[in-house]
Formats: sequence, structure tokens, C-alpha cells
Amino acid sequence: MNRLSNPALFRQSCYINGQWVDSAKTLTVTNPVDQSVLGTIPSLSVEQVNDAIVQAHEGMLSWSKLTAKQRSIILHRWFTLIEANVDDLGLLMTLEQGKPFNEAKGEIRYAASFIEWFAEEGKRVYGETIPQTVTSNRILTIKQPIGVCSAITPWNFPAAMITRKAAPALAAGCSMLIKPASETPFTALALAELAAQAGIPAGVFNVVTGESRVLGELLTRHPLISKFSFTGSTQVGRQLYEQCASTIKKTSLELGGNAPFIVFDDADIDKAVSSAIQAKFRNGGQTCVCVNRFYIHDAIYEQFLTKFVAKVSQLRVGNGLDEGTDIGPMITSRAIEGMHALVDDAIAKGARKLTLGNEIAEQGHFINPKVLVDVDDSMDIVHEEIFGPIAAMIRFHDEDEVIRRANATIYGLAAYFFSKDIGRVYRVAEKLQSGMVGINTGMISNEVAPFGGVKQSGLGKEGSRYGIEDYLTVKYLCIDIA
Ligand code: SIN
Repeated sequence: MNRLSNPALFRQSCYINGQWVDSAKTLTVTNPVDQSVLGTIPSLSVEQVNDAIVQAHEGMLSWSKLTAKQRSIILHRWFTLIEANVDDLGLLMTLEQGKPFNEAKGEIRYAASFIEWFAEEGKRVYGETIPQTVTSNRILTIKQPIGVCSAITPWNFPAAMITRKAAPALAAGCSMLIKPASETPFTALALAELAAQAGIPAGVFNVVTGESRVLGELLTRHPLISKFSFTGSTQVGRQLYEQCASTIKKTSLELGGNAPFIVFDDADIDKAVSSAIQAKFRNGGQTCVCVNRFYIHDAIYEQFLTKFVAKVSQLRVGNGLDEGTDIGPMITSRAIEGMHALVDDAIAKGARKLTLGNEIAEQGHFINPKVLVDVDDSMDIVHEEIFGPIAAMIRFHDEDEVIRRANATIYGLAAYFFSKDIGRVYRVAEKLQSGMVGINTGMISNEVAPFGGVKQSGLGKEGSRYGIEDYLTVKYLCIDIA
């Protein structure tokens, strides 16, 4: 932390109602590289969180009265401050999350882009007039902020998953309480420091930390909260969704994925290989939209595999602060145990693990990238989210077969395929049961496009012009003018 140029960004207190708040109990935050202690964060009591929710409600009442343009000016200042502090924010992220420093800085810019986008989008929240059915009536709609919002955000994207939720909420005139992952709270608290510097008023943007179960209960059940947003696993999302039902909260859920990556025999193989590397190994494979299953057409299987393995063999595992690192440490040892269990199950059922170059001695939270061949649908790795740097290679023969196999999952977040045949591009894109489809690309994430899944991958869209709708209610006005 002593490498920060702006030490004020390292906060070990919660940010509530414009104040830095501590508590009697604390939680320890460690560096995934060596489990050394980075600092502590408050473990807020139920009373403290209840107070924060009441204060967020008060903050929302005055924030929502500002014009969209006034809010936009303040959000633009927040965006500019984040951009100006990208090195420090990236450093904080690498220290607590482990991703390589350049990737961390990329995430900070990605996070900032949501604030810039929604600062503008807030000015385009239009109502409408509707042709009347009774001569003396006039019918129109207005859009209003939904109210106090809460969000639980994940450790894999400690900045972008916060701004993708908070920026549309604030632009719409809502207030927001964020509970960041306990593994990665310092990036969130640094964002709060910059929100304060930008002039976001007290109570409007709050960061609360503590025991997940305690805070999760309050943020999903409190009657003063109107909207809840979560990014994380389908299993936890299901539980939180049930909790939201008690007060009928509007809910957005960005949950697990099981992305297929299909390469047809008419694809540009080199492009497919370099995109496969990005789509599989970004953030060490710890991304909801990372590839889980590679389906490669029989006719080009060997060619694709040879080129893919050559590139995977060049990936360097190490400390994210070391120049040249491609894959940092995994977040927890439990995550690594889960990956080993998937690999062991696949091998027991007939898969083979290829030998790669550049392997390190696996220890602590470090795991080498792995390529498994001869994978088939009987193996757990085909059905469960891997969330790590393991590539499972499967052969296929024809289009209908691969679409059926790609869709044979409870998930529907992202899918990717490679083909130069325009007819096939439309056919396959329309048939894949997935909220997002990358066609001849492995990178689909950006602030202008709607991010979100179908099936058990979630509800709602984040980013894009759709992203602000979740933070608004449409009110219908019927006026008798006679
Ligand atoms: C996620 O893994 O949930 C987010 C990934 C992204 O925004 O690209």
C-alpha cells in the first residue's frame, strides 16, 4: 500500500452518509499472492446497516430533486477523478484481487466508462404521450427514480461491477448502498473516496462491509430498499432472489455462466485461436463470460488445438505486479480445490491433460493453465462453471448437433462462435440460448451494450440504454381535460 501516490485512497472504514465509519468488529483482507494481511474493514452491526439504509433514503430524497443535468455534472467529475487515479486504483485492485496490473487498470477504465455513459444517459430518460381512447382524456407517462437501491458485488471485478450498478442508479436519481466482496473491499472504498471528492452528496453513494449473511439479509429484506442488484453465482443469487420476494423488490441478477466457444470449419483459425485465449484466460478464467467449453469442428480440430496449445504454453503465471504476468493467483484455495475436482473427474472419465510449456510449481493460490482433450458430455466440467484457467476441448461434427450441445445447460449468459458463412452466422446466433453472443470475437464487454443472461444466468440488463431502466419506474398519468 505504501506504493500508492495518493494514500487517501486506501480506506479501511465504511463510507456511509458522507462519513467514514468504523465498527467494533473487523474483517481481515489478504493478498492472494501470499495471504499476507493488507488491512482490515469494519464488520458492521445490524444497527449500523439499518442506520445506513435510513440515511440512504434521506440522501435519495434530495438527490432525486436535482435535474438530470446537475447529477450528470457531478457524475462526470467522479468519472474524471477515477481516470486520473487509474494507477493507484489498479494497484489496489492487483493487491487485493490478484489480476495483472495492466488488466486491473483496464478494469478501472471499464468501470469509469459506465459512469461516463450513464452521466449522459440520465439526461435521456424520456416519458411519452399515448393516443387517448376517450376524447377528453390525455394519457402520458413519466419515469421516476425507483428509490433506495442496494447491491452485492463480486471479487472478480472489484470496480466495474460496482459502477455498472451505481452509475445508472445515481444518474436516475436513486441512492445506492454497495456491499463489496469481503475479499476485495479496498477498490470499492477508494471509489467512495473519489465519489466524495467529486461532490456526490451524503447518503447517495454508500459502501458497507461486513458478514455477507448479515448484510445480505438486510440489503434484500429492508422495506426502505426498492431495488436490489447482485452479481455472483446462481446458487447465491437464487437465495437472495427469494429474500427479495419478502418485500417484492425489483431485482437484477447477473449470475453464473457456462459459455460455449464454437469454431466451425469455415472459420478464420488464427483469429479464433487468439480470441479463444482472451475469452478463456481473461482474469485467469475467473469471469462469468469466460469460455467453459470449446467445441471445435472435426475437420479443423488438430489445427486449432496445435495453435491454441502453443499460445497457452506462452502464458506466464505469477504475481500480478510482475511485468509480463498473464495469469495472477486465484482468489481462494477453495476455488482451486473446485478446479482440481473438475479436472480429476474429467480424467477419471477418459479426458487427457496435455503437457504445456512454461509451467510453474503449483503452490498457494497459483495454478497453471490446463488444456483437457477428449472431453465429453458425461464430465462435470461440461456442466459446471470452471471459473479458472482450464480449457476443455470437445469435437463436434455438424451445426445442429453443436447447437443442441451448446444449449444443454441451465445457464445462458455468453456464447461465442467463429464462422465466415453469413447464413450460418444468423442461424447460429438466433438459435443459441444465451443473453450475449460474440461472433468472430472473444471480447464482448463494453458500456454501450446490454450485458445480461437468460435461463438461470439471471435477470435484467446492465450497461447500455437498457441499464438505467432497472432503476426507474414508469408512472402512467391520465388527465381529464373536459
Ligand atoms: C462478470 O464476470 O460478471 C463481468 C464480466 C464483464 O463485464 O466482462
